[in-house]
Amino acid sequence: MPDIKTIGVIGGGTMGNGIAHVAARSGFKIILHDIEQRFLDRALATITKNLDREVAKGKITANDKAVTLSQIAPTTNYSALADADFVIEAVVETVDIKSKVFRAIDEIARPGVILASNTSSISITRIASKTKRPDKVIGMHFMNPVPIMTLVEIVRGLETSDETRQTTNRLAAALGKIPIEVNDYPGFVSNRVLMPMINEAIFCVMEGVAAPEAVDSIMKLGMNHPLGPLALADLIGLDVCLDIMEVLHTELGDPKYRPCPLLRKMVDAGQLGRKSGQGFYKY
Ligand SMILES: NC(=O)c1ccc[n+]([C@@H]2O[C@H](COP(=O)([O-])OP(=O)(O)OC[C@H]3O[C@@H](n4cnc5c(N)ncnc54)[C@H](O)[C@@H]3O)[C@@H](O)[C@H]2O)c1
Repeated sequence: MPDIKTIGVIGGGTMGNGIAHVAARSGFKIILHDIEQRFLDRALATITKNLDREVAKGKITANDKAVTLSQIAPTTNYSALADADFVIEAVVETVDIKSKVFRAIDEIARPGVILASNTSSISITRIASKTKRPDKVIGMHFMNPVPIMTLVEIVRGLETSDETRQTTNRLAAALGKIPIEVNDYPGFVSNRVLMPMINEAIFCVMEGVAAPEAVDSIMKLGMNHPLGPLALADLIGLDVCLDIMEVLHTELGDPKYRPCPLLRKMVDAGQLGRKSGQGFYKY
């Protein structure tokens, strides 16, 4: 992609560090932004560990690892994003925070630079309305874990231009991903279908229908899912699952999307899945 050399990634959590990893490995320069140095340190430690795994498997060489890491410039300073040719936002799934972030990047990114959000469920049209360039705002929904999963759901907001859509599709392909386009509705396709299934699996546990291991084994052995819904919820993060269910429930207004009370209780207790060491399973 001759016109895109430097990608700004905002948020170095589960998804942001995966996006930075894949984009740096694909030859792009990365400006990785997070709010505190310790989150950047954690992101770089995770990327290093995941690259080590790729070296051990023979997928990349030790030199590829060193080059990839050297492509990533961590920063806590938004103004560094002025050098980005394309920006991908991956901060927490709350409308208020995403709105603030998009207002801020819109001021800093050069005119013409596309601002993509990795949101799982928040309206791209609403996020775009916080900027003066709604035609250049688009959803670029990567799947977790980013270095492994092939899909990127491309979400077109009401005002997203064809040019923005085409450039974003090309960038996804340059990252070795397969882009699939959908229109902007709550949860898009992926989480509109996936999250109610996970939520229902949590209801099964809460109501004593079966223990987590049994629920997951039934979906693995009976439906050929590679991972059970509760193990997947732990991988995604229970806080992220709750945020998405809240969006589906509020935006679509149908009680079938009400978050399971057990999910809420686990999030209140700080049991967020893999990232906190405890979810439906211990890590
Ligand atoms: N976890 C998943 O499986 C998954 C999959 C697809 C999409 N998503 C979406 O990706 C986004 C990020 O999710 P995650 O799981 O990586 O969350 P996370 O909590 O692991 O990481 C969020 C990161 O954003 C940082 N952050 C918070 N406010 C910020 C700000 N104002 N500026 C810069 N950085 C800020 C946090 O410090 C943290 O490092 C969410 O929109 C989520 O819905 C998540």
